[in-house]
Amino acid sequence: SRPLLMDCDTGIDDAVALLYLCQTPGVELRAVTTVAGNTSAEQAARNTLQVLEVAGRTDIPVAAGAATTLRGDVNADASFVHGEGGLGGVGLPAPSAGTDPRHAADLIIDTARRAGGDLHILATAPLTNLALALRKEPRLPELVSRVTVMGGAVHHPGNISPVAEANIGHDPEAAALVLAADWDLTLVPLDVTMRENLTEAHRQRLLAHGSPVSRLAGEILDFYFTFHEETALPFRGSACHDPLAAGIAVGEVTPVLAPRLHVTVDTADGAARGALVADTRGIHLGYPEQPGARAAVVLKTDGTFPDLLVDRLCQTGK
Ligand code: BDR
Ligand code: CA
Repeated sequence: SRPLLMDCDTGIDDAVALLYLCQTPGVELRAVTTVAGNTSAEQAARNTLQVLEVAGRTDIPVAAGAATTLRGDVNADASFVHGEGGLGGVGLPAPSAGTDPRHAADLIIDTARRAGGDLHILATAPLTNLALALRKEPRLPELVSRVTVMGGAVHHPGNISPVAEANIGHDPEAAALVLAADWDLTLVPLDVTMRENLTEAHRQRLLAHGSPVSRLAGEILDFYFTFHEETALPFRGSACHDPLAAGIAVGEVTPVLAPRLHVTVDTADGAARGALVADTRGIHLGYPEQPGARAAVVLKTDGTFPDLLVDRLCQTGK
């Protein structure tokens, strides 16, 4: 098992991803950092502490980070997607643990140094914290073994604009820095996360199982399902954005297709701001791999992750 740090904006699907990681044997979650996105960075940190407490992991340090984007924007409120407070409006007891006093970027750097080059970073939120950490410690890529990012849309439409996905589009300058850095990167875009779907049957299983972990997942997903049913899916259920990226990060999901592609982000002000630009031209010609391209872009998975995820959340005794 590899030490893991998750940078997130908890957020319903971030919370489900955290629960999944806590339930998965062999995963060594060393720290969690939060950023403004689905909710404020502070609120996301509180939500994270509450979720970790339900999972019995009050030992994991949680640090809040960037409240604005690199260029100082404050993104619009996302409570119509994730509910008031970010966890679907579900009330949880105040966390017993406090946040780590460090800024998220410092916790990222410290955790990477301590892991001696072995740290895997899973980012499921706007990439501001990672960009700040890179600015502060330009050697960060040498200290990190791999980075997995949930974000972007390649052939799929965007979800905050016709072409931009939230995690890339909410801080395009940060995303451009992170995608250009010299590390082994895996990108998990909407092309796959929108096709691995949780359903109402899954949610009912989570509720019926009735452990604190499965119940929390089942309860917070209610709001997420309503949002998806009204805006994005032809049935009651949801995408599996951040949990799928977590599954790929820890090696439980093996992508069917993940060629190394040159990727950039449109940072110009205009209709395409925040769009991921992935060079997929070779795919149609039979040579998808591009020499020198660093990012493995996941374009196909087999659709079985939601069943595995629910099984895992329903496992007790861990
Ligand atoms: C991403 O945006 C957020 O709302 C989700 O938590 C996920 O990380 C999907 O575009
Ligand atoms: Ca997220």
